[in-house]
Amino acid sequence: MAQWNSYQDIRRRVLFEYRGRFGVYNANYPEEHRSGHYPCLLLLRGRTVGTIRIDVSGHAATFRGVAIDSKCQGQGHGCVLLAMAEAFSISKGCTEVFSHVAPDAVGFYEKCGFRGAGNDRWIAGESVRMKKPLGMAVLGIASTYRISGRARSQPTYYS
Ligand SMILES: CC(C)(COP(=O)(O)OP(=O)(O)OC[C@H]1O[C@@H](n2cnc3c(N)ncnc32)[C@H](O)[C@@H]1OP(=O)(O)O)[C@@H](O)C(=O)NCCC(=O)NCCS
Repeated sequence: MAQWNSYQDIRRRVLFEYRGRFGVYNANYPEEHRSGHYPCLLLLRGRTVGTIRIDVSGHAATFRGVAIDSKCQGQGHGCVLLAMAEAFSISKGCTEVFSHVAPDAVGFYEKCGFRGAGNDRWIAGESVRMKKPLGMAVLGIASTYRISGRARSQPTYYS
């Protein structure tokens, strides 16, 4: 339960309130509980530093709600979060991953190997659709990190 609260807190603060959107975050958003959707926390030595939800559909994963706690940004955690989420997606049989990216985060995704999905109809005012093929080995991830996916009844850990 504490982990679920941390997940909600980071998302509300980083993705909504720091962007000036107060009072609109819905902690009971149904997509969080849908089958094949995996809300995850990035833990560093037991401390929560980031969140992501990995939605798996067939051979494609979509990363949603990528957020690093504001105090922890700019220290490489975001790249680790995506790399671990990619490894998780590969373990679920995915061969590609997509994300709907805020315009000011496109540079970050490019650093992590994503490219524009090349379909103009996805480029809207609020997000840019980006994609990355999966299958390359994820190497060099510090063993101190863990990604924790919330299973139905108890947390499951992936490292
Ligand atoms: C975007 C975010 C997830 C990046 O995580 P982070 O931990 O701060 O990023 P990292 O420290 O891992 O940065 C990795 C690289 O990306 C670069 N980078 C980070 N944020 C960037 C940005 N907004 N634009 C361009 N490059 C960026 C870093 O400079 C670094 O490059 P380097 O390896 O050459 O030094 C994080 O800053 C965040 O949560 N931002 C607010 C929410 C958000 O925008 N989420 C994405 C919504 S789609």
